[in-house]
Amino acid sequence: MTDATPRKRLLIRTWGCQMNVYDSARMADVLAPLGYAPTEQVEEADMVILNTCHIREKATEKVFSDLGRLREAKRQRGGEMVIAVAGCVAQAEGAEITARAPWVDIVLGPQSYHRLPEMVARASRAAGAVIETDFPAEDKFDHLPETAAPQGVTAFLTVQEGCDKFCSFCVVPYTRGAEYSRPVAAVVAEAQRLVALGARELTLLGQNVNAWHGEGPDGRAWTLGRLVRRLAEIPGLARIRYTTSHPRDMDDDLVAAHGDPPALMPFLHLPVQSGSDRILKAMNRGHTADDYRRLVDRLRAARPDLALSTDIIAGHPGESDADHAATLALIRDTGFAQAFSFKYSARPGTPAATMAGQVDEAVKDARLAEIQALLRDQQTAFNRSRAGMVAEVLVTGPGRHPGQMAGRTPWLNPVHFDGPESLAGQVVPVKITAGHPNSLSGVLVAPVHAPARERPAA
Ligand code: 5AD
Ligand code: SF4
Repeated sequence: MTDATPRKRLLIRTWGCQMNVYDSARMADVLAPLGYAPTEQVEEADMVILNTCHIREKATEKVFSDLGRLREAKRQRGGEMVIAVAGCVAQAEGAEITARAPWVDIVLGPQSYHRLPEMVARASRAAGAVIETDFPAEDKFDHLPETAAPQGVTAFLTVQEGCDKFCSFCVVPYTRGAEYSRPVAAVVAEAQRLVALGARELTLLGQNVNAWHGEGPDGRAWTLGRLVRRLAEIPGLARIRYTTSHPRDMDDDLVAAHGDPPALMPFLHLPVQSGSDRILKAMNRGHTADDYRRLVDRLRAARPDLALSTDIIAGHPGESDADHAATLALIRDTGFAQAFSFKYSARPGTPAATMAGQVDEAVKDARLAEIQALLRDQQTAFNRSRAGMVAEVLVTGPGRHPGQMAGRTPWLNPVHFDGPESLAGQVVPVKITAGHPNSLSGVLVAPVHAPARERPAA
């Protein structure tokens, strides 16, 4: 962009998973050369992108209520606002969006973000909406510009997209398409770039990240464990995480990687969805509750301080009181440091939506409440169990109060402690003084390294 390029304002609203957070950043990168700079204010936005989530009905409905508000904002600007709907709702419901909200200019699915500049140009000429929701054969990653925006201390890196698992309840295989793994060279190059921009912690992203099998320089498919070990060699990269995993794809190599390299953090999000074998079968998960328990044992053998997180669905079709009790038992047996739990939501086009034995809303509510109470207790107990430990904390930036800094433990807990701003980006020892339901408090333990020694050479 030259100085003569008119400044335009871009507002991106993001729903859903971390993949969408990453995609939103890439859309901002693609539009920057056209003169679009970020804004948080809808009144001054020349373009608004809603990056949407289709996973549950509630998330989808929020998009339509937001579009209603945007219609008014666009009218107040005399129509001078490009409105784009991106993400999985766009992919799944493109036609419905343009029918229900004809003031939308662009509808684009998750595989089409590299085409945004061309679509913006077409939208300025077109009478109706410009729609792009095919799964193009070409790889969008090859067509997206390199990350340009300054990154924080923690950054996301998408290594895998799509899913071939077809869990009975899930729209992802339909909205994000078949599994695709980025090659090793592309991932390593992006990781190096992010570290050069200041990232100390990378989270590798994929809908089914541990199914990643990208092509290595030798022309052969690598495992995710091998990729993690390769990334751990990057100077200045202190921490690696990955999400979201499927229990079926936790191979021996990846389990072993939790023991070494140390850069792989002792925290794993491993959705189980249910503790009942009958329901796991109906969900097409491809494993039993005991398979999951055994996998957790193997992981903890490799890394004894591993903290686990999971996803649970309450009220999948066919779920009985006994099945629900089995889910509670699995949660009790495993002990989660964190978890997400949801009421089953029927998604059009998925097998579960038309299964017999749909569960009553009130029953779903009651089961979810019970699951959430148990998970909340486990999370609080886990956080309290950190008190008295000295944790290696990656300092992410200033805290809420003056003189306070914020960071995260290896187990992903947010921590607050008093310290100078110069600590940002360093990994420092912090003695945990208290565990709260959602965060920890601590005090800095000497010695503190000078920032210069902690920074990467690049
Ligand atoms: N209803 C409720 N929860 C769902 N999830 C996915 N699809 C549905 C659905 N139809 C949950 C799963 C998944 C998480 C991202 O969202 O637990 O792991
Ligand atoms: Fe959806 Fe199952 Fe694929 Fe996860 S593994 S994205 S829940 S189909």
